[in-house]
Amino acid sequence: MNALLTVEHLSKDFVLHGQGGTALEVMNDLSLTLHAGECLVLAGRSGIGKSTLLKMLYGNYLAQRGSIRLLFSDGPLELTELPAHAWHPLRRDVIGYVSQFLRVVPRVSAVEVVMEPLLARGGDAQEARLKAETLLDRLNLPPRLWQLPPGTFSGGEQQRVNIARGFIAEHPLLLLDEPTASLDAANRAEVISLINEAKARGTAMLGIFHDEDVRSQVADRLLPLDDHMMTKTSHFQDTHSSEQSS
Ligand SMILES: Nc1ncnc2c1ncn2[C@@H]1O[C@H](COP(=O)(O)OP(=O)(O)OP(=O)(O)O)[C@@H](O)[C@H]1O
Ligand SMILES: [Mg+2]
Repeated sequence: MNALLTVEHLSKDFVLHGQGGTALEVMNDLSLTLHAGECLVLAGRSGIGKSTLLKMLYGNYLAQRGSIRLLFSDGPLELTELPAHAWHPLRRDVIGYVSQFLRVVPRVSAVEVVMEPLLARGGDAQEARLKAETLLDRLNLPPRLWQLPPGTFSGGEQQRVNIARGFIAEHPLLLLDEPTASLDAANRAEVISLINEAKARGTAMLGIFHDEDVRSQVADRLLPLDDHMMTKTSHFQDTHSSEQSS
Protein backbone atom coordinates (compact mmCIF):
# COMPACT_ATOMS: atom_id res chain seq x y z
CA MET A 1 0.00 0.00 0.00
CA ASN A 2 1.24 3.49 -0.81
CA ALA A 3 1.83 5.93 2.03
CA LEU A 4 -0.71 8.71 2.59
CA LEU A 5 2.06 11.04 3.74
CA THR A 6 5.66 11.06 2.54
CA VAL A 7 8.23 13.48 3.95
CA GLU A 8 11.64 13.58 2.29
CA HIS A 9 14.84 15.42 3.24
CA LEU A 10 12.98 18.09 5.19
CA SER A 11 15.05 20.89 6.72
CA LYS A 12 14.06 23.87 8.81
CA ASP A 13 15.94 26.90 10.13
CA PHE A 14 14.52 29.71 12.20
CA VAL A 15 16.07 33.11 11.53
CA LEU A 16 16.28 35.08 14.76
CA HIS A 17 16.00 38.72 13.69
CA GLY A 18 16.38 40.01 17.21
CA GLN A 19 19.86 38.46 17.27
CA GLY A 20 21.43 39.84 14.11
CA GLY A 21 20.09 37.16 11.80
CA THR A 22 21.33 34.17 13.76
CA ALA A 23 19.95 30.98 12.21
CA LEU A 24 18.73 28.21 14.47
CA GLU A 25 18.75 24.94 12.58
CA VAL A 26 16.12 22.67 14.10
CA MET A 27 15.70 20.08 11.41
CA ASN A 28 18.13 18.53 9.01
CA ASP A 29 17.21 15.98 6.37
CA LEU A 30 14.17 14.40 8.01
CA SER A 31 12.27 11.72 6.11
CA LEU A 32 9.25 9.64 7.10
CA THR A 33 6.24 7.83 5.68
CA LEU A 34 2.80 7.40 7.21
CA HIS A 35 0.08 5.01 6.07
CA ALA A 36 -3.68 5.06 6.54
CA GLY A 37 -4.71 3.45 9.83
CA GLU A 38 -1.29 3.91 11.40
CA CYS A 39 -0.16 5.98 14.39
CA LEU A 40 3.46 7.11 14.26
CA VAL A 41 4.77 8.63 17.48
CA LEU A 42 7.51 11.28 17.45
CA ALA A 43 10.02 10.86 20.25
CA GLY A 44 12.97 12.93 21.36
CA ARG A 45 14.05 15.41 23.98
CA SER A 46 12.28 18.69 24.66
CA GLY A 47 13.24 21.28 22.05
CA ILE A 48 14.37 18.77 19.41
CA GLY A 49 11.67 19.96 16.97
CA LYS A 50 8.65 17.66 17.37
CA SER A 51 6.04 20.44 17.46
CA THR A 52 7.91 22.24 14.68
CA LEU A 53 7.48 19.20 12.43
CA LEU A 54 3.71 19.08 13.08
CA LYS A 55 3.44 22.81 12.36
CA MET A 56 5.29 22.34 9.08
CA LEU A 57 2.90 19.56 8.08
CA TYR A 58 -0.04 21.83 8.95
CA GLY A 59 1.37 24.74 6.94
CA ASN A 60 2.13 27.00 9.90
CA TYR A 61 5.88 26.89 9.28
CA LEU A 62 7.64 26.87 5.92
CA ALA A 63 10.34 24.35 5.03
CA GLN A 64 13.76 25.49 3.80
CA ARG A 65 14.35 22.32 1.82
CA GLY A 66 12.68 19.01 1.20
CA SER A 67 9.31 17.63 0.28
CA ILE A 68 5.99 16.93 2.05
CA ARG A 69 3.62 14.91 -0.16
CA LEU A 70 0.07 13.71 0.38
CA LEU A 71 -1.18 10.95 -1.87
CA PHE A 72 -4.75 11.25 -3.16
CA SER A 73 -6.64 8.87 -5.45
CA ASP A 74 -5.96 11.28 -8.34
CA GLY A 75 -2.28 11.70 -7.56
CA PRO A 76 0.21 13.31 -5.16
CA LEU A 77 0.03 16.85 -3.77
CA GLU A 78 3.26 18.65 -2.82
CA LEU A 79 2.56 20.72 0.29
CA THR A 80 5.80 22.73 0.31
CA GLU A 81 4.64 24.38 -2.93
CA LEU A 82 1.01 24.81 -1.96
CA PRO A 83 -0.34 28.35 -2.44
CA ALA A 84 -1.73 29.99 0.71
CA HIS A 85 -5.38 29.83 -0.43
CA ALA A 86 -5.21 26.04 -0.88
CA TRP A 87 -4.44 25.45 2.82
CA HIS A 88 -7.95 26.31 3.97
CA PRO A 89 -9.74 23.47 2.13
CA LEU A 90 -6.87 21.10 2.95
CA ARG A 91 -7.22 21.80 6.69
CA ARG A 92 -10.99 21.62 6.48
CA ASP A 93 -11.14 18.29 4.65
CA VAL A 94 -7.83 16.42 4.99
CA ILE A 95 -5.49 17.46 7.81
CA GLY A 96 -6.75 17.77 11.38
CA TYR A 97 -4.59 19.14 14.20
CA VAL A 98 -4.97 18.94 17.95
CA SER A 99 -2.66 21.62 19.30
CA GLN A 100 -1.36 21.43 22.85
CA PHE A 101 -3.50 24.38 23.93
CA LEU A 102 -6.97 25.40 22.83
CA ARG A 103 -7.18 28.70 20.99
CA VAL A 104 -9.95 30.42 22.87
CA VAL A 105 -12.35 32.64 20.95
CA PRO A 106 -14.39 34.99 23.18
CA ARG A 107 -18.15 34.38 23.35
CA VAL A 108 -18.06 31.09 21.41
CA SER A 109 -19.41 28.26 23.57
CA ALA A 110 -17.59 24.96 24.09
CA VAL A 111 -20.13 23.01 22.04
CA GLU A 112 -19.85 25.53 19.18
CA VAL A 113 -16.06 25.29 19.25
CA VAL A 114 -16.39 21.52 18.81
CA MET A 115 -19.09 21.73 16.10
CA GLU A 116 -17.24 24.27 13.98
CA PRO A 117 -15.14 21.88 11.81
CA LEU A 118 -18.32 20.09 10.68
CA LEU A 119 -20.19 23.35 10.01
CA ALA A 120 -17.20 24.56 7.96
CA ARG A 121 -17.88 21.63 5.63
CA GLY A 122 -21.51 22.61 5.31
CA GLY A 123 -22.71 19.92 7.71
CA ASP A 124 -26.18 19.94 9.30
CA ALA A 125 -26.17 22.00 12.51
CA GLN A 126 -28.36 19.60 14.49
CA GLU A 127 -26.22 16.59 13.59
CA ALA A 128 -23.04 18.55 14.34
CA ARG A 129 -24.38 19.59 17.76
CA LEU A 130 -25.38 16.04 18.60
CA LYS A 131 -21.97 14.68 17.61
CA ALA A 132 -20.21 17.44 19.57
CA GLU A 133 -22.25 16.67 22.68
CA THR A 134 -21.56 12.95 22.33
CA LEU A 135 -17.81 13.64 22.23
CA LEU A 136 -17.89 16.10 25.15
CA ASP A 137 -19.89 13.58 27.12
CA ARG A 138 -17.37 10.82 26.36
CA LEU A 139 -14.60 13.12 27.53
CA ASN A 140 -16.47 13.77 30.79
CA LEU A 141 -16.96 17.49 30.29
CA PRO A 142 -19.92 18.36 32.56
CA PRO A 143 -23.02 19.42 30.55
CA ARG A 144 -23.26 22.65 32.56
CA LEU A 145 -20.08 23.79 30.76
CA TRP A 146 -21.20 23.00 27.21
CA GLN A 147 -22.90 26.36 26.62
CA LEU A 148 -20.08 28.41 28.17
CA PRO A 149 -17.05 29.85 26.35
CA PRO A 150 -13.98 27.77 27.36
CA GLY A 151 -11.86 30.81 28.30
CA THR A 152 -12.33 30.23 32.03
CA PHE A 153 -12.12 26.41 31.86
CA SER A 154 -9.31 24.53 33.60
CA GLY A 155 -6.35 23.35 31.52
CA GLY A 156 -7.70 19.82 31.32
CA GLU A 157 -11.22 20.99 30.44
CA GLN A 158 -9.88 23.17 27.63
CA GLN A 159 -7.78 20.32 26.36
CA ARG A 160 -10.81 18.03 26.21
CA VAL A 161 -12.72 20.62 24.18
CA ASN A 162 -9.70 20.79 21.88
CA ILE A 163 -9.60 17.00 21.51
CA ALA A 164 -13.33 16.81 20.75
CA ARG A 165 -12.85 19.51 18.11
CA GLY A 166 -9.92 17.63 16.61
CA PHE A 167 -11.70 14.29 16.36
CA ILE A 168 -15.20 15.40 15.32
CA ALA A 169 -14.52 15.85 11.61
CA GLU A 170 -12.68 12.54 11.09
CA HIS A 171 -9.92 13.95 8.90
CA PRO A 172 -7.88 11.29 7.03
CA LEU A 173 -4.68 12.70 8.58
CA LEU A 174 -4.57 13.82 12.20
CA LEU A 175 -1.68 15.58 13.96
CA LEU A 176 -1.66 15.30 17.75
CA ASP A 177 0.60 17.51 19.89
CA GLU A 178 0.56 16.11 23.43
CA PRO A 179 -3.23 15.77 23.57
CA THR A 180 -3.14 13.95 26.91
CA ALA A 181 -0.62 16.18 28.71
CA SER A 182 -3.02 17.70 31.26
CA LEU A 183 -5.56 14.86 31.55
CA ASP A 184 -6.30 12.49 34.40
CA ALA A 185 -6.16 8.71 33.95
CA ALA A 186 -9.86 8.26 33.07
CA ASN A 187 -9.74 10.92 30.36
CA ARG A 188 -6.40 9.66 29.06
CA ALA A 189 -8.04 6.27 28.60
CA GLU A 190 -10.89 7.90 26.66
CA VAL A 191 -8.43 9.64 24.34
CA ILE A 192 -6.64 6.33 23.78
CA SER A 193 -10.02 4.85 22.73
CA LEU A 194 -10.68 7.77 20.38
CA ILE A 195 -7.25 7.27 18.78
CA ASN A 196 -7.73 3.54 18.37
CA GLU A 197 -11.23 4.03 16.89
CA ALA A 198 -9.81 6.56 14.43
CA LYS A 199 -7.11 4.08 13.47
CA ALA A 200 -9.73 1.41 12.85
CA ARG A 201 -11.54 3.66 10.36
CA GLY A 202 -8.27 4.34 8.53
CA THR A 203 -7.09 7.64 9.99
CA ALA A 204 -3.35 8.20 9.69
CA MET A 205 -1.97 9.84 12.83
CA LEU A 206 1.29 11.51 13.73
CA GLY A 207 1.48 12.21 17.44
CA ILE A 208 3.59 13.42 20.34
CA PHE A 209 2.94 11.66 23.66
CA HIS A 210 5.24 11.97 26.63
CA ASP A 211 3.23 9.50 28.68
CA GLU A 212 4.84 6.07 28.29
CA ASP A 213 1.56 4.30 28.99
CA VAL A 214 -0.36 6.25 26.31
CA ARG A 215 2.48 5.76 23.87
CA SER A 216 2.56 2.00 24.30
CA GLN A 217 -1.19 1.80 23.73
CA VAL A 218 -1.40 3.88 20.55
CA ALA A 219 1.96 3.75 18.77
CA ASP A 220 2.41 1.43 15.82
CA ARG A 221 5.89 2.84 15.29
CA LEU A 222 8.21 5.26 17.04
CA LEU A 223 10.29 7.87 15.22
CA PRO A 224 13.22 8.93 17.44
CA LEU A 225 14.15 12.38 16.17
CA ASP A 226 17.70 12.53 17.58
CA ASP A 227 19.12 10.68 14.61
CA HIS A 228 17.75 13.13 12.11
CA MET A 229 17.94 16.38 13.87
CA MET A 230 20.55 18.59 15.31
CA THR A 231 20.45 22.06 16.77
CA LYS A 232 23.28 24.36 15.90
CA THR A 233 23.59 28.06 15.24
CA SER A 234 25.38 29.95 12.50
CA HIS A 235 25.44 33.59 11.46
CA PHE A 236 24.04 34.87 8.21
CA GLN A 237 22.20 37.92 7.01
CA ASP A 238 18.57 37.59 6.06
CA THR A 239 16.22 40.39 5.16
CA HIS A 240 13.06 38.31 5.01
CA SER A 241 10.77 38.07 7.98
CA SER A 242 10.50 34.76 9.77
CA GLU A 243 7.21 33.12 10.66
CA GLN A 244 5.10 33.81 13.67
CA SER A 245 4.76 31.06 16.18
CA SER A 246 1.18 29.83 16.42
N1 LIG B 1 8.80 30.38 15.74
C1 LIG B 1 10.00 30.06 16.20
N2 LIG B 1 11.05 30.92 16.12
C2 LIG B 1 12.27 30.58 16.57
N3 LIG B 1 12.59 29.39 17.13
C3 LIG B 1 11.61 28.50 17.24
C4 LIG B 1 10.27 28.76 16.79
N4 LIG B 1 9.51 27.66 17.04
C5 LIG B 1 10.33 26.77 17.61
N5 LIG B 1 11.58 27.25 17.74
C6 LIG B 1 12.75 26.54 18.30
O1 LIG B 1 12.87 25.30 17.64
C7 LIG B 1 13.28 24.28 18.55
C8 LIG B 1 12.28 23.13 18.50
O2 LIG B 1 11.07 23.55 19.13
P1 LIG B 1 9.81 22.59 19.24
O3 LIG B 1 8.71 23.37 19.86
O4 LIG B 1 9.55 22.00 17.91
O5 LIG B 1 10.35 21.47 20.23
P2 LIG B 1 9.63 20.16 20.80
O6 LIG B 1 10.45 18.99 20.37
O7 LIG B 1 8.20 20.19 20.43
O8 LIG B 1 9.81 20.37 22.38
P3 LIG B 1 8.80 20.03 23.62
O9 LIG B 1 8.92 18.54 23.87
O10 LIG B 1 9.38 20.83 24.75
O11 LIG B 1 7.42 20.48 23.24
C9 LIG B 1 13.41 24.94 19.90
O12 LIG B 1 14.75 25.21 20.13
C10 LIG B 1 12.59 26.21 19.76
O13 LIG B 1 13.09 27.22 20.58
MG1 LIG C 1 6.42 20.49 21.50
